[in-house]
Amino acid sequence: MCGIIGIVGTSPVQGRLIESLKRLEYRGYDSAGIAAQINGVLERRRAPGKLRELEAVLEREPLNATTGIGHTRWATHGAPTERNAHPHIVGRVAVVHNGIIENFAELKAELIAAGRVFQSDTDTEVVAHLLDAELATGLPPLEAFKATLARLRGAFALCILIGGEDEVILAARNGPPLAIGYGDGEMYVGSDGLALGPFTNRIAYLEDGDFAILDHDTARIFDQTGAPADRPIKIVPASAVMMEKGNYRHFMEKEIHDQPEGCQRTIAAYVDPLASLVAVPGGLDFSTIERIQIVACGTSYIAGVIGRYLIEQLADLPVDVEIASEFRYRQPSIRSGALVIAMSQSGETADTLAALRYCQERGMKSAAIVNATESTIARSVDVVWPIHCGPEIGVASTKAFTAQVSVLTALAIAAGKARGRIDAIEEARLVNVLLGAPRLIAEAIGLEDAIKDIAAEVSKARDVLYLGRGPMSALALEGALKLKEISYIHAEGYAAGELKHGPIALVDDQTPIIILAPFDSWFEKSASNMSEVMARGGQVIFITDPDGARHAPAGAKVVVTAPSSDPLVSALVMSVPIQLLAYHVAVQKGADVDQPRNLAKSVTVE
Ligand code: M6R
Repeated sequence: MCGIIGIVGTSPVQGRLIESLKRLEYRGYDSAGIAAQINGVLERRRAPGKLRELEAVLEREPLNATTGIGHTRWATHGAPTERNAHPHIVGRVAVVHNGIIENFAELKAELIAAGRVFQSDTDTEVVAHLLDAELATGLPPLEAFKATLARLRGAFALCILIGGEDEVILAARNGPPLAIGYGDGEMYVGSDGLALGPFTNRIAYLEDGDFAILDHDTARIFDQTGAPADRPIKIVPASAVMMEKGNYRHFMEKEIHDQPEGCQRTIAAYVDPLASLVAVPGGLDFSTIERIQIVACGTSYIAGVIGRYLIEQLADLPVDVEIASEFRYRQPSIRSGALVIAMSQSGETADTLAALRYCQERGMKSAAIVNATESTIARSVDVVWPIHCGPEIGVASTKAFTAQVSVLTALAIAAGKARGRIDAIEEARLVNVLLGAPRLIAEAIGLEDAIKDIAAEVSKARDVLYLGRGPMSALALEGALKLKEISYIHAEGYAAGELKHGPIALVDDQTPIIILAPFDSWFEKSASNMSEVMARGGQVIFITDPDGARHAPAGAKVVVTAPSSDPLVSALVMSVPIQLLAYHVAVQKGADVDQPRNLAKSVTVE
């Protein structure tokens, strides 16, 4: 979950390393550092905290070099202090690392017994010691690197400078992604294409087990057997503009507001608006699929749960949805004729990738719903369904969620059609409903001022309970997750039918109870739950639509009236108030909205 960058350059590198690290800060922001070689001597600058702390250090003590490496950290082993910040320098080696060296404890014990002294609490430092020890035996850098890699177990992306080898960077990948960029007399290596965006659009992706040596002109890449490997160079479109906040205070705010346009882009890629037909790319025949298994984490998992409602209802096709970290270890039985769908904004989530591979190894056909189309997950599957919402920078997922749900809605229609459950008239109706969703999302964003007022109250709460039925029960989970992650308020999301089986004990006059209940087939049940909560003094925030507002029992503390929508897209529309609420609660609490504590955007370790 750390971000790494390396440049074998011809012009000053410090500013460019920082520029790249800014693009990688979404991967972690516990500390940052850069290292370079000056007259054959390795030097580094490091600082705990956000990148701006490192920039302040560099202002006082710049590093004037043309080749260097950089790192932004999400701490796994060792507190987020300066001494644990990367790069780690040992003798002739400076290393930055993303991942976990699982056998670091035994390697460290062996190195200490051999007289080596450690300066940090990290797993990474063993790599620097091992490589330095190999170099000390007289091996050339590439051979020493190979010998070092053979000792490591776990997940790693590594980027390394060797003292005295001025114009060279070593890199290796085993798990977390690593991209090689090709420039004009310069070469680059980074955690993703976004990091290399300012320098080049010619990018090759290392495969698992690959290692490489970069100089000014090229990268020599080897596979895990040590044989030279040819990794295709792709032209990756630059997306610099999409990384600006514009007039918004936070990326999350911008991304919430981006949703009408974003969903329009997504939907346009999955339907033919003129013919009112669904047009899912990838050529998958849903009539041959007997079952779908969705694997995902966090918000992507919740999108999958909403997808299950839609696909089962419209296509009568059984769907299982499971948290990838549970799925991968419980030895699930795999059914022939099933399709696995890996759902991931980043396309790099370690557990989702592992769950996908589990299914693929057992012969399942695979698809991925991803934002990052050059990601490891996207490159591993039979069919890629991109969500087209542009880079999502805020750690709290918003526009990727609605784009994922939009894709799943189109897939549900396509599956229903392919399986003969939807005729041409119904297909046209559903497609037109879906095409109308971006306008309704825009209308829902119009609730922002009303939600700001509610946020003032909710921000004082210690606990919040979110309730809903049907797809709204999934959205209740999402509302609670959003509140937890950016405003640090304890929140629970529950299927409202479970209320009487436990959570009703939480109800008191201090705990806001947010009920999500559009006027659909579940409405009456949700309204009863509302009455039960109010009878016990609960302070209800009722998020509904105009018909729901008319039929709601009296007594809610606040009623939020979202636009009226067909059940096909009500989850898309109702997502907006819960996102806005979490955002404004976090702002009112003065929390760091885009970079909440302890989190990282891309979770590339399990
Ligand atoms: O990149 P992915 O969609 O695989 O990420 C999965 C989760 O880490 C992610 O959705 C996380 O839960 C978000 N921070 C939620 O807002």
